[in-house]
Amino acid sequence: MIYLDYNATTPIDERVLSAMLPYLKEEFGNPSSIYSLAQRARRAVEEAREKLAKLLNADPKEIIFTSGGTESDNFAIKGIAYANQDKGKHIITSQIEHHAVLNTCKFLEKQGFHITYLPVDRYGVVDLDALEKSITPQTILISIMFANNEVGTIQPIKKIGEIAKRHGVYFHTDAVQAVGKIPIDVKELGIDLLSLSAHKFYGPKGVGALYVRKGVKMSSFIQGGEQERGRRGGTENVAGIVGLGKAAEIAQEEMVEEEKRVRALRDELERRLLERIPEVVLNGHPQNRLYNTLSICVKYVEGESMLLNLDREGICASSGSACTSGSLEPSHVLLAMGVPPEIAHGSLRFSLGKFNREEDVERVSEVLPSIVEELRKISPFWE
Ligand SMILES: Cc1ncc(COP(=O)(O)O)c(C=O)c1O
Repeated sequence: MIYLDYNATTPIDERVLSAMLPYLKEEFGNPSSIYSLAQRARRAVEEAREKLAKLLNADPKEIIFTSGGTESDNFAIKGIAYANQDKGKHIITSQIEHHAVLNTCKFLEKQGFHITYLPVDRYGVVDLDALEKSITPQTILISIMFANNEVGTIQPIKKIGEIAKRHGVYFHTDAVQAVGKIPIDVKELGIDLLSLSAHKFYGPKGVGALYVRKGVKMSSFIQGGEQERGRRGGTENVAGIVGLGKAAEIAQEEMVEEEKRVRALRDELERRLLERIPEVVLNGHPQNRLYNTLSICVKYVEGESMLLNLDREGICASSGSACTSGSLEPSHVLLAMGVPPEIAHGSLRFSLGKFNREEDVERVSEVLPSIVEELRKISPFWE
């Protein structure tokens, strides 16, 4: 099998698994209890918090563990909305966010909040002028993703942070696809809230975190016990949190080397596919893009047909399309970037990672051109 869908999820790193196992077995204590078994679990949770904080240049007190990216996004946006609605009910986001952000905003719209969905250019970059112009005295939050999961485009986060600060508006970023891949310094970038998820960087599924800068006014998310300083009740997912901490530590040590290696593989895959397949468009920003992500649109072919054929060859990839209410809708990200729907239907995303090797690139760049050729033979649109 060749796995090229690291943006969907990553396999767990063996070192992460080894770090977690004791907390699923003999070290099973509840961190809130007082005997030493429990206190060892507490210490493990706090050590993980320190490792994650270090990765982001945050204070450990600014890290809240959650069940993953979706919860962190919900927490950030609703937490700010509910606690600051006396100031105003306006939130700014972009058209290309993950559904964890978009659907949270839609939910708030039904409760009387006003949401601005900013447009993006053809590369998927948010228009900063439009952002600044859309701020009103009622604006309480800007939520713009760090890097897009489908096309990989990285947003001008520092500039957005500056605009937010200038207008006294909170800035949240969904950094689920960026954390562990690229260095992030929340202080330098002016980020008030940041969402992340362990399973996108070789940690376990079902655990993530929200960074909340000290002094940010927000309401708690899950009412219950005093865990996570009363902001997110519920007994901690100790093994998951330990895994997240270990994944953060490994990312910090290996990120730079990993970037060089994976970028070279991705660039080679890009070069070969664009060279060997006629009528292909590259999606996303040519430079300001996650180094592991390659999104293309193959004209006159359906993304899903290519995926099924790749799967038959043991290759896992993804298309930008999502199955909505029984009908295949083209990706909202590509449409927002101005890609015509008929072309967006032919989208294909490869996202590379730690366990990919040159042979994988060679195999895919041999197999895909012939799959496309065969599919085009039966396409009514291909002459
Ligand atoms: C940009 C982005 N945000 C949020 C999420 C949701 O994260 P999780 O799967 O941890 O809920 C994902 C996962 O696909 C993502 O890519």
